[in-house]
Amino acid sequence: MRSKLVAGNWKMNGNLASNQALLTSLVPLLAPISVTRCVVCVPYPYLAQTEQILRGKGISWGAQDVCQYEHGAYTGGVSAGMVADFGCRYVIVGHSERRALFGDTDEVVAQKFVAVLKAGLTPIFCVGETLAERESGVMEQVIARQLDAVMAKSGAVALEGAVVAYEPVWAIGTGKTASPEQAQAVHALIRGRVAEQDMRVADGLPIIYGGSVKASNAAQLFAMPDIDGGLIGGASLVAEEFAGICKAAG
Ligand code: PGA
Repeated sequence: MRSKLVAGNWKMNGNLASNQALLTSLVPLLAPISVTRCVVCVPYPYLAQTEQILRGKGISWGAQDVCQYEHGAYTGGVSAGMVADFGCRYVIVGHSERRALFGDTDEVVAQKFVAVLKAGLTPIFCVGETLAERESGVMEQVIARQLDAVMAKSGAVALEGAVVAYEPVWAIGTGKTASPEQAQAVHALIRGRVAEQDMRVADGLPIIYGGSVKASNAAQLFAMPDIDGGLIGGASLVAEEFAGICKAAG
């Protein structure tokens, strides 16, 4: 039985004062939720603040990206080891915004995935198709290509220490959620693709859904057999909404 995971992706939002308010509200709201793993992925400068507020409170935290390299002359880069210094347990890699706006290729995403594992952290590895890709019938190939790039670099067995997030690009921040059936179909496809290489890893792999998840639609999504939780953007910035989503995960 896979346990559920709900991760908030704050993206480039927040400041010291608003983070303080959000995190301190989340602590009592999420305290009764013991089965679901609840995570907040915050901007780098606020990792220390997040660690200070959340340590020992049963909520994990993470980063939204890392550099693929360990250290050296990479101005502006932040390594997985650096975020681990601040108690992070999770790092999002391959988010569609990184792929589309910052040029993260499948190869770079695979390198980042390896860097995160090497630092002892859990990658939340995102895959997903654009609307044009879905409409032109290549959704399956796109998802397979994104998954295969990581499995080719690290072996399917490396997914044992990871979470996969299916995030259809057309559903991110648009208010257009994939229906539970649409999402389930792709989650099953992802699990099947991993199972071709390693059945045991595929069975245990948490596959979470992201794209306009709200407290009001989370329970239906999370009830599907291959949907093991959610990656939450906009709704993770509102304490009651995020807590409602975590509760819907059980
Ligand atoms: P959204 O974003 O929940 O605001 O659609 C999800 C994500 O990008 O991770």
